Amino acid sequence: MGKKVTVVGAGFYGSTTAQRLAEYNLFDTVVLTDIIEGKPEGIALDINQSRPIEGFETRVVGATTGQSGEGYEVIGGSDIVVITAGLPRKPGMSRMDLLEVNARIVRGVAENIARYAPDAVVIVVSNPLDEMTALTQLATGFPHRRVLGQAGMLDTARFTHFVAEALAVPIGSVRTLTLGSHGDTMVPVPSQCTVSGKPLTELLPADKIEELVARTRNGGAEVVALLKTGSAYYAPSAAAARMARAVAADSGAVLPVCAWVDGEYGIAGGYLGVEAEIGAAGVRRVVETKLTEPELAALHEAAEAVRAKQAYVAAL
Ligand code: LAC
Repeated sequence: MGKKVTVVGAGFYGSTTAQRLAEYNLFDTVVLTDIIEGKPEGIALDINQSRPIEGFETRVVGATTGQSGEGYEVIGGSDIVVITAGLPRKPGMSRMDLLEVNARIVRGVAENIARYAPDAVVIVVSNPLDEMTALTQLATGFPHRRVLGQAGMLDTARFTHFVAEALAVPIGSVRTLTLGSHGDTMVPVPSQCTVSGKPLTELLPADKIEELVARTRNGGAEVVALLKTGSAYYAPSAAAARMARAVAADSGAVLPVCAWVDGEYGIAGGYLGVEAEIGAAGVRRVVETKLTEPELAALHEAAEAVRAKQAYVAAL
């Protein structure tokens, strides 16, 4: 106990993240903010009323904030801030369609975080993810290692789920990995996937693996198309909350995240989905894994695609 975490944005992603963080019973306080008057307060009250049933001591504090920083004092002293603010996709939209509108929202949030929680580790989940993570680092001016994004854990979880279903094996026996961007240049890494320690490539034919890879790459859009009114939040919030937990516990867990890459894989200076060791200061180090030639080439392609968009966002 003793830790404080803030979730900015009380939509489905933000509110389920706040709920998961509270139910860990690890934090003193979970702050939930939104610009919609009363919404974060209402959700906080509701989650707090579940405390005797779920058995956690963590208190959730809801607070309405204004665009120009009104109400942001409530995030003061946060060890971690999760940014979920921004619009989700509608059916038919790509994450990139949210670039301009979410850049404006995320920049404003990031500036307020820099002002009110200058020592926080920031976990970004707003889309398009890699670009919003880069923008948050620029707008906060925080060291790169203190700003990271959630995507790889979610994409990897989706891939793992699809493999477990295809082989009808327990989810716990499957290990998968995705790197690259949280978008079209996502790089699922079949060469690193195993089922009970056996290489996936020996268990499924190449065309079936390719089908699961495609479904993983399209994983968010598949949910958006079904929901029709927003994007996924159960798996995304599980991933974001676990990242926050790794930071709070200074765990040293190696997780697939969007992190600043500086020379690893021969890629210089850019945010990208990679595996990284996570601790109290954010990213302790990027962990390189062995990739096949095509996987490495795809990772470089992803880095270039993200880099081009990051430059555009920075100039907005
Ligand atoms: C998804 C969104 C949250 O992948 O990016 O579901």
